[in-house]
Amino acid sequence: MTQVTFTQTDGTQITVEANNNEHLMKLALENGVEGITGACGGSCMCATCHVSVDHVSGNLAGPGEMEEEILDMEIDNPLATSRLCCQIFVANDLNAIKVTVQEG
Ligand code: FES
Repeated sequence: MTQVTFTQTDGTQITVEANNNEHLMKLALENGVEGITGACGGSCMCATCHVSVDHVSGNLAGPGEMEEEILDMEIDNPLATSRLCCQIFVANDLNAIKVTVQEG
């Protein structure tokens, strides 16, 4: 299990336990995380699942080419830590991750 913490736009946090292969956008919707809408259903087209990655314990794969393109196109000033959380998948070697919801 991987511990996933979302910091919402009002600063409050939601922490959940996640199974392998789940992506963070699905977790956010299931747990009512404020500010994540996932308009494209997780197909890397909309950036309404924009987060910044604050902390990682373990391994986190970097963004793919398409994710980087969407971040560049859809987000005015992406952060160095910006990710689309539909593209962040829980894996065996990811122990914990903390993200903050950003404008999508
Ligand atoms: S849900 Fe649309 S890009 Fe992540």
